[in-house]
Amino acid sequence: MATDRGHFNTRIGFILAAAGSAVGLGNIWKFPFEVGEGGGAAFVVIYLAFCFLLCFPVMVSEIAIGRKTNLNPVGAFKKLGHKNWAVIGFMGVLAGVLILSFYNVVAGWAFGYFLEMIQGNFGIGEEFGTFITDWQKIGLYGLVFMAITAFIVSRGIHDGIERAATILMPTLFLMIIGLIIYAMTLDGASVGIKYYLVPDFSEITGEVVYSALGQAFFSLSLGMGALITYGSYVSKKQDIVKSAALITLTDVSIAFLAGLMIFPFVAYLTQGTMEGVDGGAGLIFATLPGVFESFGPNLGVVVGALFFLLLCFAALTSTVSLLEVPVSYLVDEKKIKRPVAVWGMAALIFIIGIPSLLGNGSVDSLTQFVQMNKNAEWQYVTFMDFVEAIASDTFLPLGGALISFFVAYVWKKHNLNAEIAIGREGGSQWVAKYIDFAITFFCPVILGLITVVTILDRFFGIVLIG
Ligand code: PHE
Repeated sequence: MATDRGHFNTRIGFILAAAGSAVGLGNIWKFPFEVGEGGGAAFVVIYLAFCFLLCFPVMVSEIAIGRKTNLNPVGAFKKLGHKNWAVIGFMGVLAGVLILSFYNVVAGWAFGYFLEMIQGNFGIGEEFGTFITDWQKIGLYGLVFMAITAFIVSRGIHDGIERAATILMPTLFLMIIGLIIYAMTLDGASVGIKYYLVPDFSEITGEVVYSALGQAFFSLSLGMGALITYGSYVSKKQDIVKSAALITLTDVSIAFLAGLMIFPFVAYLTQGTMEGVDGGAGLIFATLPGVFESFGPNLGVVVGALFFLLLCFAALTSTVSLLEVPVSYLVDEKKIKRPVAVWGMAALIFIIGIPSLLGNGSVDSLTQFVQMNKNAEWQYVTFMDFVEAIASDTFLPLGGALISFFVAYVWKKHNLNAEIAIGREGGSQWVAKYIDFAITFFCPVILGLITVVTILDRFFGIVLIG
């Protein structure tokens, strides 16, 4: 049975694929900005604590559930619990579909920027606001990106997902290192690094802690069964705990390195003042092209194209994992052939993403879609923001809370421990003990609370942490 569904051939192949899922737009686009906003190194410390203390046990649980059942998230919960628990899996499949629908739009921006950089069109940074309203162009880029994603997933686990990750991840790593080395030689690099890394504990507010948690969870691809799915293709010889540790470490390192690359660039542009630095989307799409332009036409094209290609690679290994979740559901539960499931799902998700595409200025009713609390303000948000609030901000922590609860109280911890022990003969006991403790109290409670806080905040404007 396991061979019919496909499997990862090597230990490192699985680790790279899972780390590829984790390393994405979240690391390169969002993390550096959040660090800058949230008190530099102080944020990094909190972020690391969340990754290892809270997220890591959830990751181990997801992989263990997957490997134990050799099934997609829906089938896995059904098999280990009662068929009603499959609702956690369904929520995961839905989260995957929704996240991919808007994630692919942003990936389309990255792809479009790569093409613009190759042509030396650095002015695109200043036109970012107009660029994203060009729905025909971005739609086409998004379509290409989705097609590449679907192509990889259609080739299956070993020939598609594992092989792509084995090529893309090391390349991404080399590109980031190369760009950091170059960034370090720039004037003002040290100011950028200081802004990024010198801790300012006065900036640590409840809000910062809250966003560090959300960022950690999203960045590690947890709560929607992406790692249940990947785990279902993992061999019994593999040490789940060690693999999860390596995946977490890779994700955290790449996020950290992204900051080391981006802040010297920005400091160079602002000549060391770090003033007027745009956050969020603007940091990468609006600010960086100007930086690349200042390197001159030749070097600027090389550095700019490399940067946005890197962003595309990071996004691609994540979109692949997002698509694999609903596909594995269709293949296992509905007995649909992989290529049909892949291309059908990819088309459907692309269509679901169209309102997100149009909601960046092309269609007013989607640009000002509903009122929601954002940045501590009750305001109209885009369709994309709305889907993100539901799928990433609500479904992921809720899924994480439910997965932890399920493992501790339904599947039961001795079963988790037994699965973890396979492939881990002679491994140290304290990690297993910690996971045992975390999954019982810490994870379900904290993640449950975070879900409640988020729902009250975003949809009701009741701010508990701010
Ligand atoms: N972890 C990815 C990122 O940082 C996003 C993602 C979330 C991918 C959930 C898969 C599942 O961009």
